[in-house]
Amino acid sequence: MAEIGNTKYLSHRVAGLKPSGIRKFFDIAATMKDVISLGIGEPDFTTPKPVLEAGIRSLQRGETHYTSNSGKLELRQAIADNLFRLYGVKYDPVTEIIATVGVSEALYLTMTAILDPGDEVIIPTPCFVSYQAEVLLAGGVPVEIPARMEDDFQVDPARIAAAITPRTKAIFVGYPSNPTGAVATRETLLEIAKLAEQNDLVLISDEIYDRLVYDFQHVCVPTLSESIKRRTILLGGLSKDYAMTGWRIGYAAGPADLIKGLVRIHQYTIMSAPTTAQDAAIEALTNGEPFVQEMVTEYDRRRRLLVDGLNRLGLKTFQPRGAFYAFPNIRASGMDDETFAEKLLKEEHVAVVPGNAFGPGGEGFVRACYATEYSKIEEALHRMEKFMQRYG
Ligand SMILES: Cc1ncc(COP(=O)(O)O)c(C=O)c1O
Repeated sequence: MAEIGNTKYLSHRVAGLKPSGIRKFFDIAATMKDVISLGIGEPDFTTPKPVLEAGIRSLQRGETHYTSNSGKLELRQAIADNLFRLYGVKYDPVTEIIATVGVSEALYLTMTAILDPGDEVIIPTPCFVSYQAEVLLAGGVPVEIPARMEDDFQVDPARIAAAITPRTKAIFVGYPSNPTGAVATRETLLEIAKLAEQNDLVLISDEIYDRLVYDFQHVCVPTLSESIKRRTILLGGLSKDYAMTGWRIGYAAGPADLIKGLVRIHQYTIMSAPTTAQDAAIEALTNGEPFVQEMVTEYDRRRRLLVDGLNRLGLKTFQPRGAFYAFPNIRASGMDDETFAEKLLKEEHVAVVPGNAFGPGGEGFVRACYATEYSKIEEALHRMEKFMQRYG
């Protein structure tokens, strides 16, 4: 019998998806020794010890079963309390919050819940690689709006307004931004939210990096107004703020009717987020604040080192105010971003990600993540200096 090892069996939707441009570089880097990776977008810190211990205690208590589909009520309460403490925004933990397997799952649930075939979602780019893919998987059409370095990588609301059509269903925002480190001001967000209101659109806000901001007060989109909150799905998670990428806990918060839709998909595809991780997340949200502060202070030190260093090398870098990425313009090297990243990896063993992996507007830039030890960033800059002496 013939083996099913043939892409002809894949749906058009899946066969047409581009592989992530980030993974390709890790595969090359994994075959090399001595690589300093500024490529991967995750904290180098291990999860804070009390959080680890809460996970261990959960297992020792024998908490090895499913939880409620939406997640343990205690976790949803901790998420609601945290959002209220930080931003003064109120969500009902029973009907307005679902715990998910990372923001990744929350993105999937959101798109699948709101999109009919052909519905358009406006997505400012460069952006996290999953946004467009999740829209496509749900049968929708991503409408990409590039932001520019001259605008501090904040999307121009006028360009969003011009992209709205009768098929537009939602506007996506994601600040602090992966890959640029840009944040959005209250004024910009208000203008975008107004467009959502005027055109009766859903507003989706991925705020996974909300706590990782430097000299900036994060603006939580549902706090803009009660009426904006009523059309916003807020996505957040533990991966970045609490160094918990491997635990896989995120959440969506929003109007009960919309969250009900997300829960319905989640109950058939996931059942419930991992129980051990839910218990660890409760500890993180309840007692994790000092650890967040400690990590932010260290990221900030690394941010200054990397951004100053890149600018000194002639790689013009916008001052990131959030997340843990620098997004240098590499045109001074005379190369495009793919060639730059490939040569830098092969010749100097420093891994960065070509900007075009993050969509239109990313060409000519690379993403360098500073969630890496200070001394490694120093060494990476030293290697990049040699590289730029050859090509700059
Ligand atoms: C902007 C953004 N959103 C969502 C995610 C997904 O995170 P997770 O699924 O670990 O919560 C990431 C991960 O890199 C991200 O950068």
